[in-house]
Amino acid sequence: MSPDQHEGTDPSRKERLRITRIAERWTSLAFAVSIVGALGLAVVYWRGGQPQLEGLFLALSLGGIGVGLVVWARYFMPHQPVIEQRHPLESTEEEIADLRDEFERGEAILARRGLLVKMAGAALAALGGALIFPIRSLGPRPGKDLKQTEFGRGVRLVTEDNEPIRPDDVVVDGVVTVFPEDHTNSADAPTLLIRPSGTPRPRPGRQDWSQDGLVAYSKLCTHVGCPVGLYQSEEHLLLCPCHQSTFDVLDGARPIFGPAARSLPQLPLAVDEAGYLVAGGDFSGPVGPGFWDRDRDLGG
Ligand code: FES
Repeated sequence: MSPDQHEGTDPSRKERLRITRIAERWTSLAFAVSIVGALGLAVVYWRGGQPQLEGLFLALSLGGIGVGLVVWARYFMPHQPVIEQRHPLESTEEEIADLRDEFERGEAILARRGLLVKMAGAALAALGGALIFPIRSLGPRPGKDLKQTEFGRGVRLVTEDNEPIRPDDVVVDGVVTVFPEDHTNSADAPTLLIRPSGTPRPRPGRQDWSQDGLVAYSKLCTHVGCPVGLYQSEEHLLLCPCHQSTFDVLDGARPIFGPAARSLPQLPLAVDEAGYLVAGGDFSGPVGPGFWDRDRDLGG
């Protein structure tokens, strides 16, 4: 007896089979919508991204998988405890015929369930593929940009008006914020040029980094990057107003208080032939928080 013949003899079973087929169609449709959503999401990302479309396609992709799994669980999974009654071990002719019918119908159902499994797998794979594209959103690799500034050997130090500066322009206990020439808008280059009244104690290898009693340190706090703008000239201390980190100017801008763990990077100084201050190179370390180098650059 074929499944259709069987359906014809049992109205309730025929109705159940009809509902099952409708549920299979809805499940397939939901997974297909999910695949289309994932492909759309991938294409939108690939073409440069558009937030509204990305949201729409992501909703279709995730929603399709969700609806498919809900319908699957509702119609294809057993919901009640199954109890098997004790019965005679020997089957009657009628039971054997029923079992044969059940088996034939089960084969057809299993074939259709195989398709659903493949559709579900395809929907998840498409979504996984689409989610690889957001990696592009991270942008280009920063390379060495986070560790270098516009300062370099021979680059003049200038005021915010891009005016070069001579050593005599800074009075004793005075502080001037300087920048690399032609880069006064550079976010990582603000530098404090200080003439402390005390005598700086240079770090090993930095004996010639000061010029005419001037020292220069990055203005960006090594805690989280606030501008270190307060100079207590009597104690030769630089204070960060954000979280009160305090740096000793005479001791290589070493932090002596507060959360900053690294010295302010120092800029080597020199004077060019025209008598203007120039950098002898770039800073001694990454400016600002520099958390990517904290383990190997505690000295600043
Ligand atoms: S940013 Fe300077 S102490 Fe926090």
